[in-house]
Amino acid sequence: MLNVALPKGRMGEEVLDLLKQAGCQSSLLAKDSRKLVMEDPQSGMRYFWVKPSDVAVYVLHGAADLGVVGKDVLLETHPDVYELLDLGLGVCRMVVAGPEGFTKPVGKLRVATKYPGITQRYYAGQNQDIELIALNGSIELAPIVGLSDVFVDIVQTGSTLADNNMRILEEIMPMSARLIVNIASYKFKHDDIRRMMEALNRV
Ligand code: PRP
Repeated sequence: MLNVALPKGRMGEEVLDLLKQAGCQSSLLAKDSRKLVMEDPQSGMRYFWVKPSDVAVYVLHGAADLGVVGKDVLLETHPDVYELLDLGLGVCRMVVAGPEGFTKPVGKLRVATKYPGITQRYYAGQNQDIELIALNGSIELAPIVGLSDVFVDIVQTGSTLADNNMRILEEIMPMSARLIVNIASYKFKHDDIRRMMEALNRV
């Protein structure tokens, strides 16, 4: 069996389309079901939907052979896995954003983010000392209520920024979904993994 961890949520919708096009049985992947594990003994595949930030944890520990994960998660957590393919899905940008009328504060810049590692490295690269405010979500709220001056986050459609009178101040880097593999699985299940990669590459 090849075990595949898939990300729930927005990226999951795109992954689902890709897998269907690559020949995976769509009934198996029905996301509205509350079933946690979907098995297809015929094709030797087992899928499970997990929180996007947890995909790499399943793959790192070998509970999943393969996983689909955002480059943002890989850059933030540096899991010891192989990155096999850029799937060209979940395309977005990591940016510094802030209120429309943003002006640099006199003191240290306060930066809210759920990506402390990426943020620290980015500002260290700019030789800028910041105060980092680590959050878990709804990052755009931070400057609105005065918790931070700016924030570092991913922007996809830009509608969250627009709806909250925010704008992009600096672009950090582009992001997209990657296919990752457990290091031991890559060695011991190599043929099955290659077949899956070829099917995805064809799409
Ligand atoms: C992400 C990100 C932004 C939003 C950007 O949040 O953190 O808030 O998507 O997307 P947009 O440019 O298409 O509006 P997510 O939906 O993952 O939820 P979160 O705020 O709880 O992190």
